[in-house]
Amino acid sequence: MRVPVIAGNWKMNKNNDETKKFIQEFEKLMGETEVEVVICPTFTSLASAAQMLSNSSVKLGAQNMSWEDEGAFTGEVSAEMLLDLGVDFVILGHSERRQIFNEKDEIINKKVVKALEKGLRPILCVGETLEEREDKKAFEIVKDQLIKGFDNVSKNEASKVIVAYEPVWAIGTGKTASPEDANEMASFVRSILKELFTEAISEEIIIQYGGSVKPANVEEIMNQADIDGALVGGASLKPKDFIEIVNF
Ligand code: 13P
Repeated sequence: MRVPVIAGNWKMNKNNDETKKFIQEFEKLMGETEVEVVICPTFTSLASAAQMLSNSSVKLGAQNMSWEDEGAFTGEVSAEMLLDLGVDFVILGHSERRQIFNEKDEIINKKVVKALEKGLRPILCVGETLEEREDKKAFEIVKDQLIKGFDNVSKNEASKVIVAYEPVWAIGTGKTASPEDANEMASFVRSILKELFTEAISEEIIIQYGGSVKPANVEEIMNQADIDGALVGGASLKPKDFIEIVNF
């Protein structure tokens, strides 16, 4: 049985105070839940978030990480530094990193491999642009991102990776993929994972959908057979919206 994972990607939002306020409010609203809940604040808010969540079932994720261990890499943050704070997850290869910061599959793969080596769970983001979808290349693009993203990942480690399918055209646009289209791609992702590893492993891997997930559409999305969670941007910034999503 795959335990659903619902993660909030805060992107470049919320300072320390705002992070603390969110957590206070969110924790008050949060009851028993059957899903794993993760919040991914900015690097600068991770330490205070970690302190506040030390006795909570809510887990912490970072939004990026270096593939290097330490040294002369100005502006970078290592896996060890994240672990030191109590971070469990790390978003890698988000489309904003791919598009705005020009991160290539090879770099993303090095990060995935490093995260696993250090014991962090990568949330590997894949997804096509609108142009690619209109050109009927969505499946080809996602397959390529998966093959490159999982390069050098062993069978033992593969199921620790979460795949987030985030069609770029659905991110921050209010447009959501239809639940059927999202599930079609999630099933396709699982079929590629089966080719790369084994059927049993592909059945263990959590596949999230991301792109304009909100309280109004989360249930339909989560009801899809191959979708095991959501990676939520805008709607994870408000405790009330995010709790509704978590309690879909
Ligand atoms: P939105 O939910 O704001 O569309 O963002 C999705 C996303 O990019 C999550 O990583």
